[in-house]
This record gives sequence, C-alpha cells and structure tokens, in this order.
Amino acid sequence: MTVGMLASIIVILLLLQLAILALVGLYRRKIEYREVNACANDSPAAPAPQRTASSGTGEPSAQATCWEGFRDFRVQRRVVEDRKGSICSFYLAPVDGRPLPGFMPGQFLTFRLTIEDPLTGQPKMLTRCYSLSDSPRSDCYRVSIKRVPSPAGQPGVPPGLSSSHFHDQVQQGSILRVKAPSGHFHLMEDEPLPIVLVGGGIGITPMLSIVNSLLERGSQRQIWLYYGVRNGSEAIMQEHLRTLDRRHENFHLHLCYSNPGEDERAFVDYQHKGRVDIPLLRNTLQLMRYKFYVCGPRPMMESLVPGLEAWGVDARDIYYESFGPASLFGQQKPKPGKTMKSVAVNFRRSGKRIGWSPNAGSLLELAEENGIAVESGCRAGSCGGCQTLLESGEVEYLQQPDAEIESGHCLLCISTPKGDITLAA
Ligand SMILES: Cc1cc2nc3c(=O)[nH]c(=O)nc-3n(C[C@H](O)[C@H](O)[C@H](O)COP(=O)(O)OP(=O)(O)OC[C@H]3O[C@@H](n4cnc5c(N)ncnc54)[C@H](O)[C@@H]3O)c2cc1C
Ligand code: FES
Repeated sequence: MTVGMLASIIVILLLLQLAILALVGLYRRKIEYREVNACANDSPAAPAPQRTASSGTGEPSAQATCWEGFRDFRVQRRVVEDRKGSICSFYLAPVDGRPLPGFMPGQFLTFRLTIEDPLTGQPKMLTRCYSLSDSPRSDCYRVSIKRVPSPAGQPGVPPGLSSSHFHDQVQQGSILRVKAPSGHFHLMEDEPLPIVLVGGGIGITPMLSIVNSLLERGSQRQIWLYYGVRNGSEAIMQEHLRTLDRRHENFHLHLCYSNPGEDERAFVDYQHKGRVDIPLLRNTLQLMRYKFYVCGPRPMMESLVPGLEAWGVDARDIYYESFGPASLFGQQKPKPGKTMKSVAVNFRRSGKRIGWSPNAGSLLELAEENGIAVESGCRAGSCGGCQTLLESGEVEYLQQPDAEIESGHCLLCISTPKGDITLAA
C-alpha cells in the first residue's frame, strides 16, 4: 500500500467518524425537541427551552417526559409578592422527585382542587389554570396567584373560590394536583424579531416567564416590557425587573402607573403615568416590526388588540391571552352570518331541548342560562373542565382550544352548534 493510499484511508475514516458524530447529535436534538413539544400541544414553533441557570438549580431535563392526567406537587414555599398582600407565588416541586419537563414560556398549569363550597359547606371540585411565572427548571414550577374579591357592591357573593383557597388554605407542604404545562400563548422562538410584552395587572405572569427565560439564556433579542398597574402597591417583582433593566442592554422596562401614590416619583418609581395604550407604544417604540404579546384585564385587551391592528400591526404579529371568560372578548364572538338560524340543542340527561341562536353565546352560556348543571373552570378553552360528550351533530370553536379534547367530546365554553346537536349533559 502506498503512502497516498494510506493517507486517503485515514482521511475517509476521519470523515466517517465525523459524519457518525453529527448524525448522533442530530438524533439527540430531535428526541429532545419531540419531548418538549409533547408538553406543548405539539406546537410546531417550539424548540427545547434552554437555561443558563442563574437563580435556579438546574435546566429542565431533556429526559423528563410529560405526564398524563394529574400529578401530585408539594408546595415548597410561598412568597407574598405585593405590598397589598393580594398576590402570592407558590413554588411547586413534584412529590415523586422526578425531573420536570420543560415548557414554553407563557404556558400555564391546570389545577384540580377540592374545596369547601362557602354556600353549602359541601366539598366541591374546581379546575383552574395559572400561568407559569418563571423560566423552566427541572426541580420546581412557580405560579403567582392574585386573590379575587367579591364583585364591587355585592358583599353577599363569595369571593373567588380558587384564589381564596390558594391564599388562605394552601401552605408550605400542601399537596396539589396539577396537569402538565400547556397552552398556545407562548414565546415563538423561531421568530427572531424584537418583542413587545404588555402585561396588565396579574397578566404580568406569562411575561415574567418570557423575560426570565430569554435573559437567563443570554438572548440578544430586543425586549420591551410594558407593565401596567394602578401604583407600586400592586406591582410585583419590581426590584427583579429593575435589576434586569440595569443589567441587560436589550431589555427595556416601562412601568406604567395609572394612579401613582403621592410618594411615588415619576422616572424613578415608574416611567409613565397612565394606562398602557397605543399612543404610549407609538411614542416609545421605534418604527420597525415587532412581535407583540398582550395579557391583561378586559378593558386593556379590548382596546389594545384592535388598536394595534388599527395602528397597522399585522394580526399575525399579535399574540394575546385573556385570563377571563373567552366570550368577554369581542373577537371571539360567533362570526356574524355564519349560523344565523336557530338550531336545536338537546341536553339528554337534563331532558331539555333548547333553541340556540348566535346571541345565546357559547354552549356553556346556553346551558347556564337554562339551569342545566355543567362543570366549568377557566371558561376560555384552557382547563378542560366543561368537556362534555357530544352524542350527535357538530360544533365549531370560537378560538383554538388549549385543553386536550377526548374523542367524541367538545368544550362547551368556546363552542357553538353547527346544526342540531345532542349533548350528554
Ligand atoms: C390560561 C389562564 C391563565 C391564568 N393565569 C393566572 C395567573 O397567572 N394568576 C392569576 O391570579 N390568575 C390567573 N388566571 C385566572 C384564574 O384561572 C382564575 O380565573 C382566577 O384565579 C379566579 O378564579 P376563582 O376561583 O378565584 O374565582 P371564581 O370563583 O371563579 O369567581 C370569579 C369572580 O366571580 C364572582 N362570582 C362568583 N359567583 C358569582 C355570582 N353568582 N354572581 C356574580 N359574581 C360571582 C366572584 O366573587 C369573583 O369575583 C388564569 C386564567 C387562565 C384561563
Ligand atoms: S371551562 Fe375550561 S375549558 Fe371550558
């Protein structure tokens, strides 16, 4: 064998080795990608979350798989986050001690709670969703929950059942039943455009997860965060956000107080007096293309989302999530002219046949209006609480459901009948 032949063989062997290493690397990435996506409703725009840990104790494990149904979590600690004491964070560790799968920043957890009904004193099952408020990590999740009081002027109505339960009953060591992270409102990682996050009140929670995740991993994307609250007594994690603002050139914090306290100083404690609105965004953002993420109370959502479109933002560049009932949000009302004639909805167990027309709203609203007992939780297609067997006919959805729907079932809170239907309820 000549020296030339020997050299060629060595080069070929080296190339072969490199090719095998590259293939193994690609295969591993594919497996990691699949596992994280399994947690994220198979979202196509969902790479594995990464983390260059600074405050946590570990990256979400690529080996950790999503779980089916509910898993037990122990409350590791609780932290009151605001001066008013109405928002509390809960750090949740899995009882089985196995590593947690990653999630897309912006997603939520679904909780199944058994509480004492304040009206009857009987045990009552509730399903509620709470956004993950920190970046993914392998040992615990964090949610931050606002106490919801009785409606103004109605002291006879009990305050929010789940949020009161969390604040008053859930302590360090309590066990909670939790579904795996899910939700379609999350950071779109494959779009490297600058992002504008708008969080109103407790709508800050998914934004915190997005900001922490991006900055901890050293992302250079430009990030603007507009955080709207009445004043500093309601704002959470301000010091954390201010520190991020000082440390990261690509992070721009705008604290907006609609009603600042007398001792609160403009440009020191907050940047803008007033609500987050389109004029504020126009005056503070440079003219370029952004991805907008919006989550807040009803008036903010109803003005900002259409306002962004009127300003010329492409609807595909706006992502939003409403924590309240889906039907509150104008854009999710049945499309006019789509199903104008009245159709019959049969509730088999209740023995009722009711006419439905578009102004009756969702099937959940129709059932409640007519005294038919049906379960519900988020009223936004997220928790799966209103899932009901659809015995005949078809429904259409007013928005993309987040909850997984069993075959032959439908989510009453975000659906309307396409023609005559029969529900098992
Ligand atoms: C995807 C998603 C993510 C979310 N993330 C968060 C989060 O990160 N943090 C957070 O705090 N919340 C979040 N929420 C909201 C949360 O899920 C709950 O909706 C919220 O905590 C209120 O639930 P509750 O059981 O306390 O109130 P409920 O018991 O549902 O009551 C809600 C309100 O209705 C009133 N009420 C009750 N009965 C009547 C009646 N008969 N007549 C008139 N009024 C009545 C109550 O007094 C209360 O004011 C999220 C929701 C969704 C859908
Ligand atoms: S009430 Fe939560 S999905 Fe319908």
